[in-house]
Amino acid sequence: MKNLIFHYLLFTFSLSLSAQEISIIPQPAVVNLHKGSSPYQINAKSKIIINSDSLKPAADFLNDYLQKYFQLQLSTAYIPGKDNNISLILDSRLDGKKGTYVLTVDFKGISATGNSNEAIFYAVQTIIQLLPTNRENIAIPALMIIDYPRFDYRSMHLDVSRHFFDVAFIKRYIDYLALHKLNYFHWHLTDDHGWRIEIKKYPKLTSVGAWRNGSIIGLYPGTGNDGIKHGGYYTQEQIKEVVQYAEKRYITIIPEIEMPAHSMAVLAAYPELGTEPKKKYEVAQTWGIFNKFNNVLQPTEKTFKFLENVLTEVMALFPSPYIHIGGDEGSKIWWKNSVVSQQIMKRHNLKNESALQSYFINRIEKFVNSKGKTIIGWDEILDGGLAPNAVVMSWRGEKGGISAAKENHKVIMTPETRLYFNHAQFVKEDSLTAAKFLPLSAVYDYDPIPTELTEVQQKYIWGAQGNLWSEYITNPAKVEYMLFPRLDALSEILWSPKANKNYSDFLKRLKIQFKRYDLMGITYSNRYLNSNY
Ligand code: ACM
Repeated sequence: MKNLIFHYLLFTFSLSLSAQEISIIPQPAVVNLHKGSSPYQINAKSKIIINSDSLKPAADFLNDYLQKYFQLQLSTAYIPGKDNNISLILDSRLDGKKGTYVLTVDFKGISATGNSNEAIFYAVQTIIQLLPTNRENIAIPALMIIDYPRFDYRSMHLDVSRHFFDVAFIKRYIDYLALHKLNYFHWHLTDDHGWRIEIKKYPKLTSVGAWRNGSIIGLYPGTGNDGIKHGGYYTQEQIKEVVQYAEKRYITIIPEIEMPAHSMAVLAAYPELGTEPKKKYEVAQTWGIFNKFNNVLQPTEKTFKFLENVLTEVMALFPSPYIHIGGDEGSKIWWKNSVVSQQIMKRHNLKNESALQSYFINRIEKFVNSKGKTIIGWDEILDGGLAPNAVVMSWRGEKGGISAAKENHKVIMTPETRLYFNHAQFVKEDSLTAAKFLPLSAVYDYDPIPTELTEVQQKYIWGAQGNLWSEYITNPAKVEYMLFPRLDALSEILWSPKANKNYSDFLKRLKIQFKRYDLMGITYSNRYLNSNY
């Protein structure tokens, strides 16, 4: 009888647990909850079992999380005990896309089998989301999950030029991407408002180009200038540290070095690379540079040599097979007005400035390709003809991405109307943002595959990316405020099967996700808690 009551209690306990606690974002492909089965209780005697050294980063990540939030330090071993194991098993025979894993939980323990190291890392992220959001009673409901990503390119961007964020915060940002099973981080390292990466051959890029003497106050065009010096940069040692940190989280960092425009910080340091070499260029202090300030590089041999030297150092730091070379918003008026630009065009038989833009990108592509890497560029790199191997990042809507896919080029969708998280998330925001509106539901509803593409062309849509431009984002808490929960919506677009998308279910799961964010000390708008949005 006592036994019966015990089982009854376990039964009801696990029912209530399952009802409340299964809340995973992005939603896995298949979740089978074993209602009525006893949960697994993690305790100090639980062991993490791995069958390959290559799973150490995933095991360590789980252990660090348990240590940080539950004060549990588990041992990691190769030989399982009789029970109470959290087994992480690499098995290349597991069918499916790279990243596929199967997770089972019963009262004896957890077993996660994955077809690659990152698959196991994703299983660990799921396990973390099965843990309670308070610091008590670590019971995980009995279940079976089968899961795999929808897209191979799942990414967030961060602009560290308009405002600089230190290494500690960049690492936290990478952890946020990892929690959402993203696998790329696009690091926007250079722009008009500050150059943020140490280049040994050109020290003025950071001694001069990393600093501006003020920023406009308020929404562009602003109500004045705050006169406060702003800046900072990452040393090469710090870059290496961040790259390694991301690698352990199966995130590839794609560095962006902007050209031929968005280069005022370069020109402040090395004006001889501009179309007005005698001008006193300054690191920009106001937003909305396009057409109003000369921020364009002169396409001379000296400039190409400079860019090749910079990219050589960048490529040595970032193992990424992809290098983003910008290419956006280059106003043609500076080349039109420059005698030297016009001479270069004549020499190379280029009939207009669009052809010059294409020539510029093609030359850089050749150099990057010669080092075994591929360029990514904003969709303006289509102007005047696309470089042969370039990946196109479609931001001015989907038009550029559609054209590129039709030309058999890989495409990353990041249309500003749907995936720019620096836009306001509420009609009336709590603080200053870009003056455009992007509510959570509009992000969730976005699908990166344009219906006008044929099935074959659709294969060129590599994935999508959320962008976070930092003109009006001055501190880490504000980054988080703008990022969450639109990052959650993005992750579901990118990871979950399209057929599983369900906004009201997502909102339900988000409620528990916010509790996890509370545990982790993440800032988000409490309007989401009141359903007042
Ligand atoms: C962009 O937003 N200028 C890529």
